Amino acid sequence: MKILIRRDPDHLRKRKKLGSMTTAATQNKFKYSEARILVVDDEPGNVKILERLLRGSGFKNITSTTDGLTSLELYKTYQPDIVLLDIKMPGFSGFDVMDALSSENQHDYLPILVLTAQMDHSTRLKALKAGAKDFIQKPFDMAEILARIQNILEVRLLHNAVRDQNKTLEEEVQARTQELEKSRMDVIHRLGRAAEYRDNETGMHVIRMSKYCERLAREIGLDDKASQLVLYASPMHDVGKIGIPDRILLKPGKLNAEEWKIMKTHAEIGAKILSGSSSGLMQMGETIARCHHEHWDGSGYPQGLKGREIPVEARIVTVCDVFDALTSERPYKEAWSVADTVAEMKRLKGTLFDPELLEAFLQILPEIITISQKFSDTETDPTILKSIREEIFHESFAHCNSL
Ligand SMILES: [Fe+2]
Ligand SMILES: [Fe+2]
Repeated sequence: MKILIRRDPDHLRKRKKLGSMTTAATQNKFKYSEARILVVDDEPGNVKILERLLRGSGFKNITSTTDGLTSLELYKTYQPDIVLLDIKMPGFSGFDVMDALSSENQHDYLPILVLTAQMDHSTRLKALKAGAKDFIQKPFDMAEILARIQNILEVRLLHNAVRDQNKTLEEEVQARTQELEKSRMDVIHRLGRAAEYRDNETGMHVIRMSKYCERLAREIGLDDKASQLVLYASPMHDVGKIGIPDRILLKPGKLNAEEWKIMKTHAEIGAKILSGSSSGLMQMGETIARCHHEHWDGSGYPQGLKGREIPVEARIVTVCDVFDALTSERPYKEAWSVADTVAEMKRLKGTLFDPELLEAFLQILPEIITISQKFSDTETDPTILKSIREEIFHESFAHCNSL
């Protein structure tokens, strides 16, 4: 529609004020004259007049269109600081433009200044609901346009400042959470190693058995999160050995009854070391440390739990721990063959081991053997050992943020 320009006698004097507005926005070093303005009006004559007036008032960056649909694309590419939008346009109206922009930019402050000759109550209400921030009635008063543009730019700047601040805060929180996660995993890694180094030269046992445990957890249907928990919690199963005297832990021969009694306390010592944490990972570590020597038939220690009273993560560790202990060389024994180990484990099915879990373990035996070979005790190159540990304990951080 055609517009008329209402000349304000003070127009020139007010124009000079554009560069010297003192507001919160100008304190943020934003220059109003550099604001990007998008003019949308179906009448080319109106567009020309508005462009000329705005340039004459000091604005440098103005782009325009006479088509509502094109304005959507321009909004994306040009990213205007303010949109001067005509309401009554053929085809895609100003309301259609606002609807589309609002649904595509739900979290943004839409800087829309509506230009209209229709200022009745229902039109205003409809425009406000659609996302308009302010109105300019035709015919235009240039001083009023400048004041309203300034107001919208100021609110937009404050909105963007708050948004940017929130983003920075979120990034900081994320970085710190990741740092905390990293140090937590580091502590877990070192706890597992501390225990294993005392009676196992390379510390590869915890790496192998934690891999077996994760694989077995998946085999019996535990979900991704639970399987990851098992992977990271199982290396701490023998952390309580830290509290066992060397004369018992490192004794080459058989333990006497008194020594055996002390040895058994490593389960409770480990649970106490890991207790009191709010982390799901530490809580699982505590359960595993306490229950990994419980037997399916109730003859285990420390509590004599029976069958499914024993938490499943502990039953998983029992199977995998024993398999690795039997197939590995220890100071007091040779490594058993896989065939002998499987025969022995089958013999203990239903007494030491959960029968179903043992069956599931035997189903995946070829994969278990592959893991065992990959992380063999004969691998003593410190560089390779370091990279194996990092693969297990560090590279997978992304997956365990919520553990
Ligand atoms: Fe143990
Ligand atoms: Fe173990």
